[in-house]
Amino acid sequence: MARPKVLATRPLFPAAQKILDGSCDVDYWTRPESISKEELLRRVADKEGLVCLLNDKVNEELLAAAPKLRIVANVAVGYDNIAVADCTKRGVAATNTPGVLDETTADFAWTLLMAVARRLGEGEALARSGKWTGWDLDQLVGADVWGKTLGLVGFGRIGRAVARRAYGFQMKVVYHDAARVPLDVERGFHAEYRELSALLAEADFVSLHVPLLPETRGLFNAKTFSQMKPTSFLINTARGPVVDEAALVQALENKKIAGAALDVYEKEPLINPGLKRPNVVLAPHIASASLETRTKMACMAAENVVALFKGRRPPNILNPEVLKTS
Ligand code: DGY
Repeated sequence: MARPKVLATRPLFPAAQKILDGSCDVDYWTRPESISKEELLRRVADKEGLVCLLNDKVNEELLAAAPKLRIVANVAVGYDNIAVADCTKRGVAATNTPGVLDETTADFAWTLLMAVARRLGEGEALARSGKWTGWDLDQLVGADVWGKTLGLVGFGRIGRAVARRAYGFQMKVVYHDAARVPLDVERGFHAEYRELSALLAEADFVSLHVPLLPETRGLFNAKTFSQMKPTSFLINTARGPVVDEAALVQALENKKIAGAALDVYEKEPLINPGLKRPNVVLAPHIASASLETRTKMACMAAENVVALFKGRRPPNILNPEVLKTS
């Protein structure tokens, strides 16, 4: 029997290749640069499966160019790059990689939080510069982390993993989400629910853990920044467009907040030049980038593809309704 043809927009990792190659004929994009839109449309035209990254746009244009496509497997938990409703209309399954990156992403949210509070970027630059003249009492004094208040916007798996780490720092944890979680869950994480405005007025560190949805796009804007404490820091490991970057630059310039630490941006890979300031820590969307976690993500995407072609339900399907009609 002919093996299904699959396009993978990256070589993936050997463990994931092994899973895919076991039952599919895979065309791996191996060039150092990301696949261009034109090349993606050309290569996907005769494919039944697509393993893609969060910067590959799966929209009506791509779906129309790939009439044989049966599954799109995103190697990411966030799937705002995929028009799931359009996939559903065309009977194409869409999958993501939930769960496997929570702890690694939470570790990195903490990396950013600590780095911006304790001015690590500035300290590292000074240490490397050859201009360090020695210990001084008020040199690069930052803000304490321990004992402060952490405000989590989004209290799903990643937000909760961030909360768990705060306990060791003797922090108070407050959270906001679309819905309040049951009291026993709150107690388990030593977290208290707040309305967003109350959280912003109280938190010393505000860390974002919401998906990009119409209701979260631009959630952090001039109004929300004006509700934060002038001594507070914003940490974003969620999605760039949750923050209005121009408003963030203004808030930093006008000292509405003390600093920010960002892993994600409105128009990746572009970074607003106004963010390149000493009190902003910038990372290139690497919160889940440990070898272990990225390998698990790629394997999960591969397993979703193989499951579909073997007539099984892809474990992480986002639109299970397509299975009923196919
Ligand atoms: C995701 O999975 O959505 C992250 O942004 C990358 O790991």
